Amino acid sequence: MNQATSPTPVVTIDGPSGSGKGTIAKLVADKLGYALLDSGALYRLTALAALNAGVDLSDEARLAELAANLDIRFDIANGEVSAVMGGEDVSRDIRMERVSMAASKVAAVPAVRQALLQRQRDFRAAPGLVADGRDMGTTVFPDAPVKIFLTASAEERARRRFAQLQGRGVSVSLRDLLEDIRARDDRDMNRAASPLAPAEDAVVLDSTDIDIDGVLTKVLELVHQRIG
Ligand code: DC
Repeated sequence: MNQATSPTPVVTIDGPSGSGKGTIAKLVADKLGYALLDSGALYRLTALAALNAGVDLSDEARLAELAANLDIRFDIANGEVSAVMGGEDVSRDIRMERVSMAASKVAAVPAVRQALLQRQRDFRAAPGLVADGRDMGTTVFPDAPVKIFLTASAEERARRRFAQLQGRGVSVSLRDLLEDIRARDDRDMNRAASPLAPAEDAVVLDSTDIDIDGVLTKVLELVHQRIG
């Protein structure tokens, strides 16, 4: 195939919170020298912009307007990606609990998803893109040659999050984390707009009993089979 008939390849990695897709996406992008799109960050940035501007999270028109006009960029330094909004590094802010909660509300608004669609597609650039999220394979890059749906049991995802927070000295209850994960799964899978689901042509990988290296090996095998 020549350039005109082979669009820039995309590897999509979708899955629920805590499945390890962000970690895998970054490793795959590093390994292949591809760009990386963390689509969840766009919903988080929209949510942060709404909270900062005091926009009511039920005001769908205002939320969509904010999403369409986000003044953001992603900077890469020493292999770490930082999110910059209005010239300020907000990488930590967008991971705060109140922003996570707001992001999941904002992400359920169809007009917000529509406003962010082209922005996500604009990340596609040679030699390729790894995109992680919930609807990368179904809605944003339906023509991607490699689609992964990465999952793990809710219990295992809660355990991972627990270990991560403990490592940071944050005290939390495993039970609360499990409840939180189940609630988020429920919201992500049952919303009307782009619900979390594997694309028909996605390869489903369950990371409950495979470590990061095992998942990475499988994803790279698929890339070699389908992209070369
Ligand atoms: O992956 P994350 O936790 O950073 O995502 C933040 C929120 O955005 C989460 O509630 C799921 C939602 N999201 C989405 O609806 N579609 C995407 N492609 C990515 C994230």
